[in-house]
Parts: sequence; C-alpha cells; structure tokens
Amino acid sequence: MKKIGFLTSGGDCQGLNATMRGVAKHLFEHYGSSELKVYGFKDGYKGLINNEYDVLTSSDFSGILNLGGTILGTSRVPFKELKNEEGMPRVKKMKETYNLLGLDCLVILGGNGTHKTANLLSEEGLNVVTLPKTIDNDIWGMDMTFGFHSALGVATDVIDRLHSTATSHSRIFIVEVMGHKAGWLTLYAGVAGGVEVILLPEIPYNIDKVVDVLEARRQAKKKFSILAVAEGAISQEEAKMSKKEFRQARENMKYSNISYRIADEIAQRTDLEVRVTIPGHVQRGGDPSAYDRVLSTRLGAKAAELIINKKYGYMAALKDNEIVPVPLSEVAGKLKTVPLDSEVIKAAREIGISFGD
Ligand code: F6P
Repeated sequence: MKKIGFLTSGGDCQGLNATMRGVAKHLFEHYGSSELKVYGFKDGYKGLINNEYDVLTSSDFSGILNLGGTILGTSRVPFKELKNEEGMPRVKKMKETYNLLGLDCLVILGGNGTHKTANLLSEEGLNVVTLPKTIDNDIWGMDMTFGFHSALGVATDVIDRLHSTATSHSRIFIVEVMGHKAGWLTLYAGVAGGVEVILLPEIPYNIDKVVDVLEARRQAKKKFSILAVAEGAISQEEAKMSKKEFRQARENMKYSNISYRIADEIAQRTDLEVRVTIPGHVQRGGDPSAYDRVLSTRLGAKAAELIINKKYGYMAALKDNEIVPVPLSEVAGKLKTVPLDSEVIKAAREIGISFGD
C-alpha cells in the first residue's frame, strides 16, 4: 500500500486543486484505489504539525479541475520561525506525523517560503515532491508557476475596464498589482493592458520622470493615463536606504499602500485628477484559466511520475516548455525576480512604456 500525503501552504492561487487532481489521478491510475491511501493535511504545514488530515478517495479529486482556492485549506507557517525555534519542535512534530502514518511521500504545493520548509524536511530525511504555486511567478528554477496566468487575466481585465472610465473622466488611474518582491505580474499585466507607466520593485522609480510622462501625454491631447504599480514598488531614494532605514520609512509612511503615495505625489506636482484601484486578493480568487488547468495537469502528472519512480527531493517545473524535475536544494531560498535585461521590459520600453527611471 502506497501512502501519500498532500498539503497546500502559503497564499492560495488558482490551480491548486487542478494540480492536486493531476497528481492524484495519475497515482490512482497507476496504483489503483486498493493500493493507494491519500492523506490531505488541513491548512498547510499546520495539519502536518498537528496530525490533522482527511483521508481522500479518488472521488475527492473529481470536479475540482476548475475550482479556485484549495480543498485542503492553507496557512502561512514562516520558515524562519520554524527553523529558529530551539530544537525545531514543530519540525519534529511534522516528522512524527509522517512516520506515524508511515507515509511514502509528501506532496507539497507552495511558493518560496513553502519551498524552504519543504527542502528542510527533505534534508531531515522525509520523501518530498513539490509543485510551484503562486501568482507572483517568483520561484527559482522554472519559467512559470501555476496561478500566474490566471491572476494575469484578472489584473489585465481590471486595467481593460479602467480604460473606458479613465477616458470619460480624463483621469489618471493607478492600478496596484500584487507582488511585493517580484514584478512579474505587474510587468505582464501592464503590457497586456497597454498602460503608459509600469513601476516594479526591480526598477526604482523617480516620481518626476513619472510626472513627465503624464504631462507629455496631456500635451499630446491624450485624455487619460494608466499606471500599473507593483505593491512592492520603491522610489530611487528608498533604493539607496539600508534595509533598516527602509523598514522604518515605510512604517512611518502615512499611506496604507504605495499607490496612494504615488497618487498624492502626482496630485502635488500637477493638476491632474488621480484615482487608485487595488484589486488585491481578487487577483488570486476564482477559477484557474484554461492555460493554468493544462499547466497544473502537466505538473501534477509529472509529480506523480517522480513519486512512482521514487525520485524524491524535487520540484516538478515548467522549463523551456517541458516539465522537468528541479532539485529542491537549488530552489530553496532563492527568488526569481524580473531580470533587468528581460526581453519583455525591452519590448515595453521600445513601444514607449515608461518604467519611471
Ligand atoms: O504570494 C502571493 C501574494 O498574493 C502576494 O502577491 C501578496 O503580496 C501576498 O501574497 C499577500 O499575502 P496575504 O494573502 O497574506 O495577504
């Protein structure tokens, strides 16, 4: 009897259920229902720590291909906290649950933080196979996470819809797109939505350069402008600060979000009317796009193949349009930000999009 545990950890995204379905369907096809027992741990690593799970049958994985969220629930259990605890008691408890149930492998779906913990568990001797989820697309060692494409559709739709009202009112609109450390979603949504300015965490902005773009458009009789701003966008002054100074500056910032600060800065420098739209978690909500369903299915089927071949300690990943195993030790602790020489940035600049630099 094969015993496989599943858990989803960190912020949710579209395609989590589709991916688990891909893994489970391949495993059930291979082993048959009588030779496979699947444990679904509740709310991420918490379920593994507290030995809280549901036994899932093949029918639990039916009808969930297009279902958003995660049927297992999720939570954030910060890696740093786990690792820094004296004697790592929660890691010990995870190992105890794994051994108590006699698991053959743990299938872990998550983003950056989740992968650090998955790698730790692998180093501690557990058999682990992971899958890269996040709307941020910032996991090292692969081309695209599942969830990114779906969130991109939502963020682009927001920008599309703002075009008409921005034109009617001759306004400046700032759309704040999710992504604290990596600007993939903002970059792609900005290009897909045809915005005038894109501000990314990777390219610190100069507000005067941003204002120049807006004024030039007004002089060219363009009635509106739209800015796609990553929630982690930073100014050139902030980029020069130490980590501590930056943290303090942001703690003292009177705005809840960077977009409101930028809106205020534009309003102070011009007589343009500025509005801010923050779609927030809507970007992570709802059903996965058709593309994500295919990607999830491919990734899931590959993860099952790794388990069948007892190839543990790997993440199934999309690379150069193939699904390949990437060692967890290479993934953990690294962040895939947008490279400054990105061809997408280059193309955007070539068609006149400003990055505020
Ligand atoms: O990592 C996914 C993500 O949606 C980020 O884009 C965003 O910064 C963060 O999660 C929001 O976290 P929370 O769901 O905890 O508010």
